[in-house]
Amino acid sequence: MTVYNFSAGPAALPLSVKQQIADELFDWNGTGCSVMEVSHRSKEFTDMADENEALARELLNITDEYAVMLIPGGARLQYSMLPINISSPQGHAIYAINGHWGKQAIKEAGRFTQVTSTAPISDDVYANIPAYDASSLNQNADYFHYTSNETLEGVQWHRLPETNGVPLCCDMTSDLLTRVFDVNDYTMIYASAQKNMGIAGITFVIMKRDMIGKSNNLIPTMTDYKTYADTRSFYNTPPTFPWYVMLLVLRWVKAQGGVAAIQQNNQLKSSRLYDFVDQSDFYLNKVAPDCRSEVNVPFWLQDESLNQKFLAESSATDLKALKGHMAVGGMRASIYNAVPIEGIDALIDFMREFERVNG
Ligand SMILES: Cc1ncc(COP(=O)(O)O)c(C=O)c1O
Repeated sequence: MTVYNFSAGPAALPLSVKQQIADELFDWNGTGCSVMEVSHRSKEFTDMADENEALARELLNITDEYAVMLIPGGARLQYSMLPINISSPQGHAIYAINGHWGKQAIKEAGRFTQVTSTAPISDDVYANIPAYDASSLNQNADYFHYTSNETLEGVQWHRLPETNGVPLCCDMTSDLLTRVFDVNDYTMIYASAQKNMGIAGITFVIMKRDMIGKSNNLIPTMTDYKTYADTRSFYNTPPTFPWYVMLLVLRWVKAQGGVAAIQQNNQLKSSRLYDFVDQSDFYLNKVAPDCRSEVNVPFWLQDESLNQKFLAESSATDLKALKGHMAVGGMRASIYNAVPIEGIDALIDFMREFERVNG
């Protein structure tokens, strides 16, 4: 049975990628073993790692001014690695907050450096990006951090934040590879892989080389960017299977026509769903139109007493994982790269019928 998986992460993989994993499970690259069983120092594996990095650089237009690193520990490890490596207890970092993950990031960074946020941090569910006066930001801050797409709330930046000249760092966990952007605007970018770059276990990190290895802090070797940049992420045994899946996903992105073609499809998918929700009196999306996410679409039933029925009936069909995060409530359709437009149409058909019967 083909299902449409709207999970926020770990999330849907392209069907052809899953098929290739199955096909190669017992004999990867003529080794007679699965990719999980070969040495990470073998020629087969290092060739694969080379292709992985080259393809990531090609798809995202990453110049040699930047190191590309694959780091275990999830995006959350970056919440501490970033301040430990490029700030200090006497330093200062600025955080723009427009949702759950940004709040987690500033909380962790505050253990290692002095932090300020661009606007008061609210306990409310964010439905927009709070405005701030960029000219009042500390120009001497070590970095400015933001979350380009807040996965729970479905709030996405469709422009660059103003930083008053402070180096820009970004958690792109839920929208890297889903849209075109210019890496050169950033000092550092990171995204854990389990949404649009494969499976959990690695975080893709891009950092300007001239920011690496400059700190006077005592940094554990495994949390020093220099360790990963100098060894091309081969210092310890890397999580080899996620590396392999990432390569298959990058090849798939290229075969789709690259990131620009992927973005066009994502815009088509998300606008079709938002248009349907907006014309309905039965469903509702609360996010300001200028910052609605193209990859996480939260929606609410006006009558919340129908939530359980909606979830039970949708998951009994081919529509999976539509429950919103408990902090936000309602429903959420995560429509990352691997969710096809047919999945959106199937979801809209279901929602229309549910409204007809229960409205
Ligand atoms: C935007 C964003 N940042 C960070 C995280 C945390 O990622 P991880 O579980 O890989 O640490 C998530 C997870 O969903 C996320 O969506």
